[in-house]
Amino acid sequence: MGNIVILDDLTINKMAAGEVIERPANVVKELVENSIDAGATNIIVEIKKGGKSLIKVVDNGKGIEADEMFISLERHATSKIKQVEDLEKIYSMGFRGEALASIVAISKLTMISKTANQDFGIKIEAEAGDILSREEVGAKTGTTITVENLFFNTPVRYKFLKQDATEFRYIKEWIQKVALANPSISFKLINDGKNIFQSNGNGNIKDIIYTLYGKEIADNIIDVDYKEENIRITGVIGNTRIAKDSRKNQIIFLNKRNIKNAIITNSADQAFKGSTGIGMYGFFIMNIEMPANYYDVNVHPTKMEVRFKNEEELHRVVYSAIKNSILNEKFLGNEEISKEKENYILNEYNFANNHTNQNESLENNQEEKDLIKRENKREVKYTYIGIAFKTYIIIQVENEIYLIDQHAAHERVLYEQIKDNYKKNNQSNSQMMLVPEVINLTHREIEFIKNNEELLKKIGYDIEFFGENTIKINGVPDIEYREKTNRKDMFLDILDEMLNDSRSQIKDIEDRFIATVACKAAVKANMDLKREEVDILIQNLLKLQNPYTCPHGRPTTIKMKREEIVK
Ligand SMILES: Nc1ncnc2c1ncn2[C@@H]1O[C@H](COP(=O)(O)OP(=O)(O)OP(=O)(O)O)[C@@H](O)[C@H]1O
Ligand SMILES: [Mg+2]
Repeated sequence: MGNIVILDDLTINKMAAGEVIERPANVVKELVENSIDAGATNIIVEIKKGGKSLIKVVDNGKGIEADEMFISLERHATSKIKQVEDLEKIYSMGFRGEALASIVAISKLTMISKTANQDFGIKIEAEAGDILSREEVGAKTGTTITVENLFFNTPVRYKFLKQDATEFRYIKEWIQKVALANPSISFKLINDGKNIFQSNGNGNIKDIIYTLYGKEIADNIIDVDYKEENIRITGVIGNTRIAKDSRKNQIIFLNKRNIKNAIITNSADQAFKGSTGIGMYGFFIMNIEMPANYYDVNVHPTKMEVRFKNEEELHRVVYSAIKNSILNEKFLGNEEISKEKENYILNEYNFANNHTNQNESLENNQEEKDLIKRENKREVKYTYIGIAFKTYIIIQVENEIYLIDQHAAHERVLYEQIKDNYKKNNQSNSQMMLVPEVINLTHREIEFIKNNEELLKKIGYDIEFFGENTIKINGVPDIEYREKTNRKDMFLDILDEMLNDSRSQIKDIEDRFIATVACKAAVKANMDLKREEVDILIQNLLKLQNPYTCPHGRPTTIKMKREEIVK
């Protein structure tokens, strides 16, 4: 008998600590979040030996009342909620009332705190959950918490810690994220006596980005500020030049809480598609503000994971926010890309998500009107300078020189034309061939065509099967071809590309096919362009909603300011 016992408090707290406090960086996170919740505008974090020997957080927040110092260390002691329903209304970082209890169970903790209406502060020392001392001390309003000898009584946990430098890196990365989410709070991070990072708290996220990432990145970011109903998204995204092959530079905050979320990253991928290279991920730092009752953060003790009530809405709004900013960039001296881009974005979103368009005719109408407006607006006077390396068109617009990659630019223009045709899906997609081409194909090629008959037709290929291995092409996509383009070779090239790309997935086969047709029809590098062709290309490019990159994400243009050249 007597097998079942109720665990004592210290044991419970040590076990709970196992969930929230895995390493020193988690202690830093919990302490700093408490400081933020206390309304601090100035937070100093001091670390020794990767946090193993010392973590000290000093804030100028509202402090803890003298008679609440003890209870703040108790488990389930929180000033932030009274009942679980309150979670639907709160915006504080903490609410579980267990962080301090967990930390004090596995370390020696010293806390000094003073509120504005006290004349002196209270200092308490505690270790392994026991209070060691309490005294009155002189202090400024705010709270200072020192954590020493972390994991001293959980040797297994201690053993699994990494080298000091690595543990410090986790701390640094986290502090930098929190500084990005809270540009109005000034943070200072000190490691073994050295000042490592500092933000000035002036509210400008770009200052922090500059400090953290340097000029190259700071020069290639675009603001995001987008609102729909109750959801607002602010922050920055990067253009194609700073896309990376990992998700390292993708940071999401939800009401300033750093979270990880696949719906959001997936939606961002879609929005960035065609604006970053293949296999590359766009740079973004975004804060999503939405009412607390739109989601649940109480999924896991670390609060990194969130469940959203309306995932579809979130997916679409994130997409729109990013797309809006991508399309907002100034291009060839023209600010007025388009004020009527909502329709375009919605259209693109539906296309990306394979939604059928119910109000297509209506939108087409609107699109035409938009196009006319744009054509009137978007005229840029430029001086033609020449073509370098038979590849880069050089023009001057006001104080800037532009290098336009003739292939990338033409590819983008054709891609948009073909996509337009594809969406409209009518007879005039197709240009009749004067002399139909009869082509012999391999079995695999024939299979591909048969499997994608509808797609080919929508793009503008009018194809007839002509016996076992032969087809007849009666019509090709209705786009501007260069004089010398051989329609048959082009078609064979497209087939080749489509069949040889192992990345091919059913879901984006349409998009890839369109991009491939555009690529094969476009003027190549090292081909001579006539002056009129250059003019037409630039005018066509200017009419586009998204002229910045080729469909694969390569920039169509690079610009240099006069001052930069002078330097
Ligand atoms: N730096 C601080 N300034 C003011 N009050 C603080 C500070 N740190 C802790 N507190 C008080 O102590 C309480 C307990 O903190 P603790 O971190 O354990 O729980 P919590 O923040 O409420 O919830 P969570 O466990 O989710 O972090 C807080 O609710 C708050 O009232
Ligand atoms: Mg807390």
